[in-house]
Amino acid sequence: MAKKKQTLFECQHCGEQSVKWLGKCPSCGGWDSFIELNQAEQESLKYLSKQTSSDKQKAMPITKIEEDDVVRFSSNNTEFDLVMGGGIVPGSLTLIGGSPGVGKSTLLLKIAGNLAKSGKKVLYVSGEESAGQIKLRATRLDANEENLYLLPEISLEAIQNEMLRENYEAVIIDSIQTMYSDKLTSAPGSVTQVREITFELMRKAKESRIAMFIIGHITKDGSIAGPRVLEHMVDTVLYFEGEQSKEIRMLRGFKNRFGSTSEIGIFEMTANGLESAKNISNRFFSSSKEQSGSCLTVTAEGSRALILEVQALVSHSTNPNPKRSATGFDTNRLNMLLALLEKKLDLPLNSYDVFINISGGIKIKESSCDLAVIASIISSFRNRPISRESVLIGEVSLTGEIKDVFSMETRLREAISCGIKKAIISTKPKGIVGIKCFEVDEVSKMLELF
Ligand SMILES: Nc1ncnc2c1ncn2[C@@H]1O[C@H](COP(=O)(O)OP(=O)(O)OP(=O)(O)O)[C@@H](O)[C@H]1O
Ligand SMILES: [Mg+2]
Repeated sequence: MAKKKQTLFECQHCGEQSVKWLGKCPSCGGWDSFIELNQAEQESLKYLSKQTSSDKQKAMPITKIEEDDVVRFSSNNTEFDLVMGGGIVPGSLTLIGGSPGVGKSTLLLKIAGNLAKSGKKVLYVSGEESAGQIKLRATRLDANEENLYLLPEISLEAIQNEMLRENYEAVIIDSIQTMYSDKLTSAPGSVTQVREITFELMRKAKESRIAMFIIGHITKDGSIAGPRVLEHMVDTVLYFEGEQSKEIRMLRGFKNRFGSTSEIGIFEMTANGLESAKNISNRFFSSSKEQSGSCLTVTAEGSRALILEVQALVSHSTNPNPKRSATGFDTNRLNMLLALLEKKLDLPLNSYDVFINISGGIKIKESSCDLAVIASIISSFRNRPISRESVLIGEVSLTGEIKDVFSMETRLREAISCGIKKAIISTKPKGIVGIKCFEVDEVSKMLELF
């Protein structure tokens, strides 16, 4: 009897596989996302798993193994180097995701130009724009260099041939969703294609010690479009964030096999491309006029501290379920702080709408701004402004206790350099001069400050 052909279906959103067709993906919840994989696509999956499990190698004592010597090279862009962990590692594969129009192509074309200027042969592959369009951008960015090669191409095989032709030291793929491999019949951007191409590029990067950068589109929820395994496969994952209406853009590390992910790169979008944003703190707050509902705080991102303005609007609500909304701050945390204010300070906030906004389009990812959020809510509620020469820094616990946060010294030094005179914190660090520190350990003592 002939052997029955095995069928396999795959979700085109997340890569979940099933032997039956499913209307709704049990992993990502996507509807009508399963497609049947043909024989060639199933073969490619087997091929990928064989490649990753190399059975020829024998285990060796770790003491006998020699370290890989990681010699990084600079991209000649301080912000980019900072996020990459001190420079670019040859043979590494970096995935850069970001929303449409945020500036992914601009950033990488500039980096490509910088590398070419320093004598490295760089290949920029674009499946989205024509060579003429990229040239126009390169002229604007001052990236017209002899060693920078452009290839408007979407076929993986053609890109591989080009990589064999010249000894490139860095290759940029813009973007992975537009590339396709002749081996597979599915459309460019499908999970199977994205996975196969990333795998092939990674093999090439490791084999020829090429620094490879891949641009990826992101989905509605902000993660890189394609299978989750993509983020596991690559060495570094960076996200490029920022509001299109504002010029500030941030490059954040999500995963880095060669360095820390705590650093962020801050850029400014100008007519000449993305420039490293220096003295950035002054951009996020104006020291002009005191207004109720506004409070300054200092957030720390890696080795850098930033002064931010937290704005609150507390207005009387006729709705039985008052509105709570936060931009740049976690709404669940806001609800927790509001419950705490009601319990500890007897503020009748359950009949008020509360809105929070962090200036400059920044998303706060740490809890050191809790104290400033509380202060701005009280300030708006009581209609009493807070001095523009004060910063409030501290994490608030569920019991109402105000806790110390990390890098307090760095934060205070940044505040001093921006002309701040007063800091309200839980414990004053030793050796800080030039700023008056007021210690507060309980939320219930906050009202004394107003
Ligand atoms: N002449 C200019 N002056 C200032 N800013 C510009 C200029 N031209 C383009 N920009 C900025 O560059 C952005 C587009 O950058 P870029 O094409 O690199 O984005 P992208 O992330 O690659 O987008 P996509 O996802 O469409 O490929 C625009 O949104 C705009 O902010
Ligand atoms: Mg682009």
